[in-house]
Amino acid sequence: MPIGGISTRKATNVPFLASLTRNARTPIDAFTEASERAGGELVRLNMGPFRPYLVTHPDHVQHVLIQNQPNFVREGMFWKPLAPLLGEGILSDGETWAESRRILQPLFTARYVNSLAEQMAVIINELIEETITPGRPFDIAKGISAIVHPTIVRLFFGSKISVADIQRLVPAYDVAVTAKAVRLLMPFVPQGVPMPGDRAFRRAIKTIDGVVYPRIREARARALESPGEESTDVVSRLVKARQDVAGEEGDRRIRDDLVAMHGASTETSATALTWAWPVLDAHADMAAKVYEEIDRVVGGDPVSTAHLPHMPYLRMFVNELLRLYPPGWILPRMAVAADVIGGVAIEAGSTVLLSPYLTHRMAEFWDSPSVFDPDRFAPGREAGRHRYAYWPFGAGPHVCLGQHLFLMEAPLVIAGILRKYRPVMRLDRPVTPRLASSLRPPSGLTMTLVPRGRS
Ligand code: HEM
Repeated sequence: MPIGGISTRKATNVPFLASLTRNARTPIDAFTEASERAGGELVRLNMGPFRPYLVTHPDHVQHVLIQNQPNFVREGMFWKPLAPLLGEGILSDGETWAESRRILQPLFTARYVNSLAEQMAVIINELIEETITPGRPFDIAKGISAIVHPTIVRLFFGSKISVADIQRLVPAYDVAVTAKAVRLLMPFVPQGVPMPGDRAFRRAIKTIDGVVYPRIREARARALESPGEESTDVVSRLVKARQDVAGEEGDRRIRDDLVAMHGASTETSATALTWAWPVLDAHADMAAKVYEEIDRVVGGDPVSTAHLPHMPYLRMFVNELLRLYPPGWILPRMAVAADVIGGVAIEAGSTVLLSPYLTHRMAEFWDSPSVFDPDRFAPGREAGRHRYAYWPFGAGPHVCLGQHLFLMEAPLVIAGILRKYRPVMRLDRPVTPRLASSLRPPSGLTMTLVPRGRS
């Protein structure tokens, strides 16, 4: 069928429902199977009433996220379930998104990010001291979350948030981002039909709002009382940036950006940093290089941002971690108008699914793609690679605002722990991802941190 003079074809249908059922415990395997069958072509995942297009080839990623980006919006069946959490801010689309991006972008200038990272280093060192009990096995996801979540909360709200509020906020976020996993897998079920997780999701939002709104009002009151005061926390900066929009509407817009950013930053960072440990455990040779570099550069001192440029291997390790386990593993978009991607015609209103997880594992762009190898990111090795073969932080106008912050946070956490401890795990099989809205390892993965010199 020709569109705009270009000859197009229909997408091949890949039977997907049966594959999902077969891989019920590890649905990501169903996506991997579909991607391998597609071989980089645009295909349709046949789930009966719902048939999204699967986009894997870097050229097609570039088309959707950059070249024809305005045609692919963050709306539709995948985004709707999360709308009550994310609201109309930086994780929405169109006018409200553009306004939030204009307001938030200046918060992520190199200067402000560096100052946030310095505060972050101090908080991370304190939390490692407070939360780790050497010699006692702990659940890795929970242990890492106990460092990552309060760090972000303290950066966002400054010292003005109580420990009790942090303790309410952190589990509420956890519930909010995991409760919708079933709906995300079955997006064709109407919103009116109750699904597991819906009630827990509503309760979690109530808790989050119960903590966030009072902090916004306090920050507003402070800004009025002492207009000249320079607060570095994110909520004070947002209040200042939005001072023209007063009242409930203004509060809601700040709430939406804060909550969306909090969700975007904690779940992704905690997930990525949880993967680091089973990967170190599985690759003793790479772990030895990581340990050696940290010992040489950080030694016994508290880790600081000044150490980061001197730990290139750790940076390569983190890049490779995000290649094989990109926490934002699936990005859905809705096509506003009909389009052609890679010669395949797609209709207006259809859903396209992009996945860095799948693109990062394509044999056409990566040698032995399933092998964990930080050297892929050694200086000079990236030249010649397709620009969109690697995109853990998204691309185009919606590209992650927090990527530089995370690329400082990750080595701060890993080196902060490893300068003092060695991890001991008892894994009897390879660790495979489980499905949540981010790419989490299975729950219940434990490790013990043993003081250095005694492992
Ligand atoms: C491992 C860590 C992280 C990963 C893998 C990650 C990944 C992503 C991805 C894939 C997107 C694009 C979403 C889309 O196109 O629909 C995104 C957007 C975003 N991320 Fe991150 N992110 C991480 C950490 C952070 C951190 C630490 C922050 C904030 C401090 C943050 C804030 C944001 C925001 C605000 C957006 C929305 C940007 C927009 O739509 O304009 N992220 N992130």
